[in-house]
Amino acid sequence: MLSEPGNRRTNLNLFQISFIALVLVVQDGTCIKWLALGRTAEGWNWSRESCTGARSSGLLERKQARVCRAAPDVMPNLVEAAKDTATVCQQTFRHRRWNCSSIQLAPNYTQDLLGGTREQAFVYAMSAAAAVWRLARGCALGSLAACSCATPPRREPPSPSALTSSSAALGALASRNSFKWGGCGDDVKSASRIAKRFLQASSPPGTGAMGKFMHAVNMHNNRAGRRAVEQSLTLECKCHGVSGSCSVRTCWRGLGSSGPAVAGKRLLQRYSTAAEVKARPGGRLPPLYHHDNLLYTTKSPDYCLPDTKRGSLGTVGRQCNATSSGYEGCEYLCCGRGHVTKTEEILERCQCKWYNCCYVKCKTCRKSANTHECN
Ligand SMILES: *[C@@H]1O[C@H](CO)[C@@H](O)[C@H](O)[C@H]1NC(C)=O
Ligand SMILES: *[C@@H]1O[C@H](CO)[C@@H](O)[C@H](O)[C@H]1NC(C)=O
Ligand SMILES: *[C@@H]1O[C@H](CO)[C@@H](O)[C@H](O)[C@H]1NC(C)=O
Ligand SMILES: *[C@@H]1O[C@H](CO)[C@@H](O)[C@H](O)[C@H]1NC(C)=O
Repeated sequence: MLSEPGNRRTNLNLFQISFIALVLVVQDGTCIKWLALGRTAEGWNWSRESCTGARSSGLLERKQARVCRAAPDVMPNLVEAAKDTATVCQQTFRHRRWNCSSIQLAPNYTQDLLGGTREQAFVYAMSAAAAVWRLARGCALGSLAACSCATPPRREPPSPSALTSSSAALGALASRNSFKWGGCGDDVKSASRIAKRFLQASSPPGTGAMGKFMHAVNMHNNRAGRRAVEQSLTLECKCHGVSGSCSVRTCWRGLGSSGPAVAGKRLLQRYSTAAEVKARPGGRLPPLYHHDNLLYTTKSPDYCLPDTKRGSLGTVGRQCNATSSGYEGCEYLCCGRGHVTKTEEILERCQCKWYNCCYVKCKTCRKSANTHECN
């Protein structure tokens, strides 16, 4: 039995109406406006002037522009991080009712990313994760003044038996104690500190307790995202020695080559187990939530039908899979409205044959393929 988290239809009662009204008042203080840089700031030559320019066109908050002016060299990494955030989010949710398409509206978000939903929690965390990941790469490449390679851990590297390899040669190496820290470890700690300085440089929207509370939730989710990258570090090693004898191996803690999507996977799990928090006097968060949890303040709509007030685009016209019982299955994705099946004709090269030695001749075949669209 599938259940999209938190998407039960609820009737609005008076409490919820007043709650939504409060949210509408505080929504202008969104601190993910900077994600618009991914679309608009490609290849910018960042200087103090462009930081100020980004501020006046509403892409950076006042304090973020200050951070930008103090260290413009971090900005190209943040532009890349903004792009990563949109890519990973849309890839992660492509088969779901909410498919993250609204992230492209930055900086003019709709209510799905303003009202404190679970989806907003994911985007805040993912943007922080992408920022840390890109900044750590910037550190390792030497393009940032504030950081370079990570200082090696104090403790000994683990023995090869602790690694995945089971080869006998490696076992022999362990006894010779041929491991040492080296290479260039990803300085996730510094990257996380730089990212934090930028991401936390946004003010609570307004001065009310509700604004403060929303801000605290957003900042909590930011931190969960930064932590997800710290938890994605793995041991990477390289062999040295005469003709690949591997008599010495240097190891470092690195982020690998698969990019921020690794953290995205972790955050998708946290999305499905996110916890709802209720506003409290003083705007503080209750202390009982672990740093890694994602938090939301407002139940999401089911995203079945268009509803501008709640930032739902609906799933009418979405492609679905008629045989799947998952999120992408027509049953679930079309919310029980049914679907239409369209038959498309595809032209394909087929019955290819080699002639003489050197060229291939093919026929063109017609094939039909069914696609399904939600009503
Ligand atoms: C970038 O901006 C700086 C300062 O405004 C300028 O000196 C430099 O020539 C610019 N570089 C490029 C590639 O535009
Ligand atoms: C966002 O809204 C502002 C103000 O209404 C407008 O000037 C700007 O062009 C909009 N940006 C996008 C990307 O739609
Ligand atoms: C995402 O959903 C919207 C609204 O249903 C739809 O218009 C859009 O084409 C979808 N995007 C993708 C990549 O499926
Ligand atoms: C539809 O779902 C089934 C079962 O999950 C899967 O085997 C199939 O590849 C999917 N089809 C498409 C077009 O994604």
